[in-house]
Amino acid sequence: MDSANKNVDLDLKEALEGLARSEKRLPSKLFYDKRGSLLFDEICELEEYYPTRTELGILEANLDEIVEEIHDDALLVEPGSGSSQKTRLLLDRLPRLAGYAPIEISENYLARIVEDLRAAYPALPLFPVAADFTKPFRLPPTAERIDRRVVYFPGSTIGNFTDEDASRLLAGFADACGAEGGMIIGVDLEKDPDVVRRAYNDAEGVTAEFNLNILARLNRDYGADFNLDAFRHRADYRPELGRVEMRLVSLVDQSVSLAGEQIPFAEGETILTEYSNKYTLERFARLAADSFTIDKAWTDDRDWFAVLALSTKR
Ligand code: AVI
Repeated sequence: MDSANKNVDLDLKEALEGLARSEKRLPSKLFYDKRGSLLFDEICELEEYYPTRTELGILEANLDEIVEEIHDDALLVEPGSGSSQKTRLLLDRLPRLAGYAPIEISENYLARIVEDLRAAYPALPLFPVAADFTKPFRLPPTAERIDRRVVYFPGSTIGNFTDEDASRLLAGFADACGAEGGMIIGVDLEKDPDVVRRAYNDAEGVTAEFNLNILARLNRDYGADFNLDAFRHRADYRPELGRVEMRLVSLVDQSVSLAGEQIPFAEGETILTEYSNKYTLERFARLAADSFTIDKAWTDDRDWFAVLALSTKR
């Protein structure tokens, strides 16, 4: 079985397990099929969705200092690199990097990313890794000895993990970097609850479509029969927990079939599809405490988002 099929089986298994729980849930990684990734790109352009724009502003305003924290002979590692757009800002300023290692689960997608990067940065050694970065992974061997490895993890993707999983993920990154390793990470910060609520309940309904796409995907990829009109998007910001909780609400009593199983829904019952944590720097430092120390923090004028430079405690 090739790796893509294995992932499909694991994803279906996780979906079935999540939907069999008393509080139904689906793993957020299911959002990102082709359609979901396009919808996420659209979200990033929305007036209400501040994180992308704010992070980019911080990067642009502090590029010299950020690049200095990476070191120009490091290996830059990017879990879930996507199209590496923000990374290009860094790569443009780091012409002597020992290499760039994008990590992506889909081999086909990774091959395309590598092709584009090769055209744009012919002198940059590339070390692509086809892996699920949420599981322990190994960096590929390099011909030259590399003394410093730095993980780049922008977008506050860390916020989509529970605190426990985020700590585990950071520990895995620290292991992959080893001693002298570092990390540049983007984290979304606590702020006026209305600003956060608007970002996850945009007027055009793109976030709603993104959320519902998880059901459309189960229909497309696994032959489920979710009626998308019978569910609605809900995103609650819970400041006391420091997170947005995104759910799909069943509008009627109904039963849905997935891989031969019948899944009952009562009217008003929900499926949890995503957490999006909003941190204080203290809370983030606690999450990272076993594996990293925070060396530097750059924020925007309103303190809505932070880019942090960390170093491993290994
Ligand atoms: C990818 N991730 C950081 C986004 C977030 O804001 O948590 C995903 C997203 N969900 C709804 N809108 C955007």
